[in-house]
Amino acid sequence: MTSLAAELSAIASAAFAAEGLPAKFGQVQASDRRDLAQFQCNGALAAAKEVRANPRQIAQKVADRLKADPLFAKVEIAGPGFINLDVTDSALAERAGAMIGDERLGAPEAGRGKTLVIDFGGPNVAKPMHVGHLRSAIIGDCLQRLFRANAWTVVSDVHLGDWGLQMGQLISEIGRRGVAPVYFDADFKGPYPEDSPVTMEDLEEIYPAAAAACKADPARLEEARRATAELQAGRPGYAALWRHFVKVSERGLTREYSSLGIAFDLWNGEASVDPLIPPMVDDLKRRGLAVESEGALVVEVAEPDDKKEMPPLLLLKSDGAVLYGTTDLATIVDRVRNYDPDLVLYVVDQRQHGHFEQVFRAARKAQLNGRALLEHAGFGTMNGADGKPFKTRAGGVMKLYDLIAMTTDEAQKRLAEAGIAGDYPEEERNDIARKVGIAALKFADLSNYRLTDYIFDLARFTRFEGKTGPYLQYAAVRTQSILRKAEDEGFAAAAPVVRSPEERALVLQLLGLPGAMEAAEDKRAPNILCEYAFELAQSFSRFYAEHHILSEPDTGLRAARLGLCRLTVDTLAKVLGLLGIEIPQRM
Ligand code: ARG
Repeated sequence: MTSLAAELSAIASAAFAAEGLPAKFGQVQASDRRDLAQFQCNGALAAAKEVRANPRQIAQKVADRLKADPLFAKVEIAGPGFINLDVTDSALAERAGAMIGDERLGAPEAGRGKTLVIDFGGPNVAKPMHVGHLRSAIIGDCLQRLFRANAWTVVSDVHLGDWGLQMGQLISEIGRRGVAPVYFDADFKGPYPEDSPVTMEDLEEIYPAAAAACKADPARLEEARRATAELQAGRPGYAALWRHFVKVSERGLTREYSSLGIAFDLWNGEASVDPLIPPMVDDLKRRGLAVESEGALVVEVAEPDDKKEMPPLLLLKSDGAVLYGTTDLATIVDRVRNYDPDLVLYVVDQRQHGHFEQVFRAARKAQLNGRALLEHAGFGTMNGADGKPFKTRAGGVMKLYDLIAMTTDEAQKRLAEAGIAGDYPEEERNDIARKVGIAALKFADLSNYRLTDYIFDLARFTRFEGKTGPYLQYAAVRTQSILRKAEDEGFAAAAPVVRSPEERALVLQLLGLPGAMEAAEDKRAPNILCEYAFELAQSFSRFYAEHHILSEPDTGLRAARLGLCRLTVDTLAKVLGLLGIEIPQRM
């Protein structure tokens, strides 16, 4: 199924070509003045510039050809040469009917045959997840769902931070506390215990203590550095202890992510590419790409027309330790080898943009990226009311777990205020509150363009009116309940008809789904999907306010309107699904 805009573009392109003009000027898009027309083609202006002719004359010739096509109810020229287009109601209804019969609802197939590796989440072993990790998870998950829906083969990787100095800090702190001496006994021949000597809660206490000690005392920092170097060199006791940290953290993190409905294909970490580093470094040295600089080994990545200074990528420190950029570079080698991706997308805080620029340049310079485009899809911060990155009232990092609990509480309050689910069994009400809370959190995050910062305002996010997740969930549930009642009455649904302005607007919005999915993919911008879903819900509510559905006495009309309800529910469910938002059975 091709989208209506694509269909119209093909027709207009043919008209341009028939006038001896490049077909590319026939691009048709949804009009940004819906009050004037449904669609517009602005190509005459650009074409006129290219062939040095009068834009209105070109527009006139193209318009004359379009007028011959019965698909159009209106072809008009506006201003200096815009072509405004309306499609006939019967053509709209016919396409809506076809959409009902299409399981994919016309979703684009831009990704057919292409592979995406998407790197998001990025939590660190033992360090608590903070709101930056939350944004990465929510945006990254939406993008993985969207690319999959657009027919890409998608491999998502959490890229666990499990190889840095924090590992040595934990090890040396545990060594000092003497809680697990066998891991420090150089003469111990193994095997090491199966069970971890520390729990997730222990790690959450040990890590900040260790980090504080290292900050206060250079000797402690040196000790932690040594432990890190020994771990990375493969000291058996440290490696065994490290495996426990990773396992314990993974278990906790999986629980947190799944409470948000987020899953990853791969749980690889920085450490997993460690074996690839020595051969990669040797190869870069041999090719003269890695060079000594002040005792360290670096890859120069500055380019002649850089406006800002671009420092070299640090591969190995003077003590031989590897860095964040080193593991990222080796991870590219690994991903290219295993998946040969067309695109690798990094959904990481925009403040790391410089880091990714260095890594990508180094990868391209050394041709380590295969055919993959490397791209950083950054995001801004979620701020508190004070405009600074969101913290708990006590000033600490807000843990995901607590954040979800807080959101669920707020959702409970809102449900009670709105008189929703009050008489449902408690278990169901709690489940609805959890879903509403998560929808509020996700939608608030996704509806802002990802690079803009926004303020965390739970009272606003959880409202049932306005541009919120709960409003959309409620709209979906209500529409669904119309269909359920129709089923109880034995009323059938049929292909939609288009007769009124509200029906026309709703069908146009429904037919705009592929365009929204395409634009959201192109810009890596979930806010386009949020906007689409909101407009859809609004178009539906205007339609609902003006038409009888269950009470419509004309059987044919009733069936056609139920068809529109069906298509609306399916489309809304699809888009909310892309946003990672669940729809309760009832509300
Ligand atoms: N662990 C990192 C952090 O907490 C994020 C990792 C992002 N992904 C990457 N390939 N560098 O900042």
